[in-house]
Amino acid sequence: MFSESPIGIYDSGVGGLSVLRAISDALPHESLLYVADSAHVPYGEKTQEYVERRASTLADYFVSRQAKAMVVACNTATAAAIAQLRQRHPGLVIIGVEPAIKPAAHLTHSGVVGVFATTGTLASPKFAALVRREAPEVRILFRPCPEWVRLVEQGVLHGPEADAAVRAPVAELREAGADVLVLGCTHFPFLRDAIQAAAGPGVPLLETGVPVARRLRHQLQEHGLLRTGGAGGLRLETSGAADALGGLAGRLLGQALRADTLPERWR
Ligand code: DGL
Repeated sequence: MFSESPIGIYDSGVGGLSVLRAISDALPHESLLYVADSAHVPYGEKTQEYVERRASTLADYFVSRQAKAMVVACNTATAAAIAQLRQRHPGLVIIGVEPAIKPAAHLTHSGVVGVFATTGTLASPKFAALVRREAPEVRILFRPCPEWVRLVEQGVLHGPEADAAVRAPVAELREAGADVLVLGCTHFPFLRDAIQAAAGPGVPLLETGVPVARRLRHQLQEHGLLRTGGAGGLRLETSGAADALGGLAGRLLGQALRADTLPERWR
């Protein structure tokens, strides 16, 4: 492994691009390899074993591509598989994402925090432990929103359909007293405008891209693997349709992008 080696980043689909955005801002010299596991989306409604199996397959793929680090840019996969991934690849820098419960607990005045995430994340023992550890005094209300994942995968980010999908879940948690909302799924920052409009202008919506990028930077530095010069790059790959991913990822990141299909055995 060298500092020139790529960083592998993956999610069930395009959601992890909200994390990639923060990583490429914080680490502009790195070469990033993003895999959208689109043939297997959504993870949030699958069993823990299924999500674990996909995590192992993707980790093995990144290792076969000589990645120096791996970012699990998915709350559901982090909750299901991060411990097992670290056991499987002890030499690899592995960073996961978790709902921003700790900052939410600091920010709330009402003592009530609302969390939107997938069914898998919210049902996981890891999420329960996170809440116990970081917010023992806070009332945590949560709401699975699989529909929001579907909308983002279809590129529906604004307009009447997006507004209608976020209205009821946001109103439910706001009316129950939540004054801070946690976007506990990496797809959800792409619906930020619609969620903010439904929640009201002053309500903080917390996501985790920036702290994850900071943690990655720190770990690379500690391992002597940080790339400090040269042009960075981004390569997109998918287990699903490459054309569809290229178009949607281009819209989400605001630049023209091309995607390639993963080799058969990794799909
Ligand atoms: N983006 C993912 C997350 O952060 C999962 C969405 C899904 O595939 O259900 O949890």
